[in-house]
Amino acid sequence: MPTLLTVSIPATSANLGPGFDCMGIALDLWNTFELHSTAPDQPMQVENFGEGAQRLPTDASHMVAATMIDEARKGGKEAIDARRGYKIVCRNAVPTGSGLGSSSTAVLAGLIFANAVRPHADGDAPGASADGESTLARACAIEGHGDNVAPAMLGGLVLVASHNTKFVTRRIALPNIKVCVCVPDFNFLTSQARAALPTTYLRADAVFNIGHALLVAEAMRAGNLSLLAKVMEDRVHETYRLPLIPGAEDAKRAALDAGAAAVALSGAGPGLIAFADGAHEDIGQAMQRAFREAGLTARFWVLNVVNSGLRMG
Ligand code: HSE
Repeated sequence: MPTLLTVSIPATSANLGPGFDCMGIALDLWNTFELHSTAPDQPMQVENFGEGAQRLPTDASHMVAATMIDEARKGGKEAIDARRGYKIVCRNAVPTGSGLGSSSTAVLAGLIFANAVRPHADGDAPGASADGESTLARACAIEGHGDNVAPAMLGGLVLVASHNTKFVTRRIALPNIKVCVCVPDFNFLTSQARAALPTTYLRADAVFNIGHALLVAEAMRAGNLSLLAKVMEDRVHETYRLPLIPGAEDAKRAALDAGAAAVALSGAGPGLIAFADGAHEDIGQAMQRAFREAGLTARFWVLNVVNSGLRMG
């Protein structure tokens, strides 16, 4: 069963406190996806290893397969039916439903695989012309926000803004930054986390977030944790989401008490991300304890921010 393409995509943490939907970082924890060809009449098959392997679908409804099939079907004369003849193998290190962008890795892999199997008018070898810009644009459109897919693709810190119907992104390379991410075993869907937010905000809160988000970007660029400690504060989403995750407010406080400079909800949660220049294990254990007191088991990872994103091969 020949392997057509392998792609590795990192975990991401979006929002970084006040940068709701507008910034995210890539973390050194990777999902790897392989695309294999099978007999032409064989229905799409997915094999899962690692995180979520017991729960994830093994057929065309798997997010990587569904995205690939959907995308391959588009494109006029170049459209193909990818429901048969392919098998996808997923080796997942990124916990699912955690706020670490695992679904973004799946969307990106699906888009890249679709691009690889579609006949290319310019005669490029399949897969060789996975045009980064259009893949990113499609991924942002599918997700509706680009703060996970953009850092997953580009690495580092990525700033994202919508422009007309498109997204503008800029990557900023980061110095060495180590974080501790703690993920409670709690089902908190992004759709549910987004539905919990108000549709309008006070001007004072908007101004608060704009200033804080700008300074978070600068603190990250400079690796300045004392600046980050002052500015990683949010009034747009955390206020509404943290109370819905048992133990999350206590876990945030516990991480700060254990030495973290700043703590934010990772993406839409339920995971928390803590920035610190040391004591990462202590911080992780403190968060774990707080979640445990609220009745939830939790796991933590100590991770470096990574300046490279999606890689092929
Ligand atoms: N910015 C998105 C949200 C990230 O907070 O809803 C989802 O991972």
